[in-house]
Amino acid sequence: QWSTTSFVDETVEWLRERIGDRRAICALSGGVDSGVAAALAARAVGDQLTCVFVDNGLLRQNEADQCMAVFAEHLDMKVLKVDASQKFLEALDGVTDPEEKRRRIGRCFMEVFEEVAPSLEGADYFIQGTTYPDVIESAGDSGRHSAAATKIKTHHNVGGLPDTMKLELLDPLSFLFKDEVRAAGRVLGLPEQIVDRHPFPGPGLAVRMTGAVTPERLERLRRSDEIFISELRSAGLYQQTAQALVVLTSDKSVGVLGDFRTYEDVVALRAVDTEDWMTADWSRLPYDFLARVSNRIVNEVPGVNRVVYDISSKPPATVEWE
Ligand code: XMP
Repeated sequence: QWSTTSFVDETVEWLRERIGDRRAICALSGGVDSGVAAALAARAVGDQLTCVFVDNGLLRQNEADQCMAVFAEHLDMKVLKVDASQKFLEALDGVTDPEEKRRRIGRCFMEVFEEVAPSLEGADYFIQGTTYPDVIESAGDSGRHSAAATKIKTHHNVGGLPDTMKLELLDPLSFLFKDEVRAAGRVLGLPEQIVDRHPFPGPGLAVRMTGAVTPERLERLRRSDEIFISELRSAGLYQQTAQALVVLTSDKSVGVLGDFRTYEDVVALRAVDTEDWMTADWSRLPYDFLARVSNRIVNEVPGVNRVVYDISSKPPATVEWE
């Protein structure tokens, strides 16, 4: 019988024994997995843990501030925030191929870690939030997931660590499914806004816009996403969908504003229901709800004049567009 409390107690004890009086690092992404991994490690070794939060400029509205507020202020963890937005944006300049975006982002994460390595000197352990499905996926296991489906996208989170950092990896969540990770987060006292959060890809908004990544396009996507997600929350629909997102397409469409013709961006809303993310169905969100979100986006986000709803299931589509 799996019990969350005993998992937390045993894992904290295991981490305490493994780390001893040495130092550990954890990369926070703002998501639930890395948050729970960090909270376990903090409970185990307190001050010997340093969390690193990389703002890659590809995060959602206020995400970096929220993450810092929760972990550094409320949970009293040592968090080193690295603002690397400029670096990531430069690396992505003009890149439109989804896999190339992922490769460049992975490389940037690695370089950021290289740059901050001196301030993390003396650390021997790197705590990761890898969960059971991640382990299976990277092993290419064809049991629970189909092998074909696992090789479609390179799922980079931090893109690996530089070789020069000789760190031993610890994966306290590697036997857990998402709902078990969430349960552990609640036991550890993480706020609901972290615990119930939908998954968000490591490469962030870069893979939620087809075409090139620019500050203007990021801003348009951020504002649209903020409207969709906050409306889902206020309608009580957020937790009923497994993942919801907005895609900024590279299409433009003709519209009309007053007496004028417009030629602006098209965004797509995407919401899915799924257990394991290997297959997913599109969420049957109420029409009135979709109408409200669409009206708000076209009225409030400059540069967007059309909203469409993605009604494709996975397979053959994937959850993300890239
Ligand atoms: P797809 O689009 O492959 O998404 O159906 C399945 C789940 O994986 C997430 N995803 C990623 N997560 N790095 C990540 O950390 C990535 O490159 C990446 N690509 C997709 C996606 O958000 C969904 O939860």
